[in-house]
Amino acid sequence: MSVSANDFRKAMGCFATGVTVITVDQDGEVHGMTANAFTAVSLDPVLVLVCVDHRARTHAHLHARKRFGVNVLRSDQQAIAEYYARSAETHQHPEAAGAHFDRTAQGTPVLQGALAYLECRLHSTQTAGDHTIFIAEVEEVVVRDGEPLLYFRSLYRDIKKIEKVRS
Ligand SMILES: Cc1cc2nc3c(=O)[nH]c(=O)nc-3n(C[C@H](O)[C@H](O)[C@H](O)COP(=O)(O)O)c2cc1C
Repeated sequence: MSVSANDFRKAMGCFATGVTVITVDQDGEVHGMTANAFTAVSLDPVLVLVCVDHRARTHAHLHARKRFGVNVLRSDQQAIAEYYARSAETHQHPEAAGAHFDRTAQGTPVLQGALAYLECRLHSTQTAGDHTIFIAEVEEVVVRDGEPLLYFRSLYRDIKKIEKVRS
């Protein structure tokens, strides 16, 4: 029995997640991709994974650079998630979406104001269907106060608004 892509998307959409932007240096430019197929893998060593579509430009950049950042978005960064969910050879106007970047000592772009940042060095890859699982060692983290941007049933959700409805 095979599951249709639509049913699979619907079922996975019930699994509420945070939203990240994967950042990678591309010849001195910032390349970003919105991703929620991100999870912790191991504590010793500290490993995470992100699943990336073979068709995404980010796929080639991660293979080439072997280092990337994971920026966990804050509740007021939906415009940034939308911006980096659009495929582009070069992202020309990130500041119009409110995205500004610093660089780590390793040269990886870090999104200003994100809830958390993880500096990742590629550990291994595994092809899985039409995606590749990029497993990476976390070399550094930054954690800030604030609320997360959420993604549930194909919509961005603001946790503060959900809390307001409940109270
Ligand atoms: C909320 C959300 C989560 C996403 N998660 C992923 C993901 O985990 N992996 C992936 O390959 N694409 C994911 N995408 C799609 C990419 O962001 C999109 O295909 C993007 O245009 C790829 O950019 P690129 O071609 O510049 O790399 C997601 C999109 C949205 C809106």
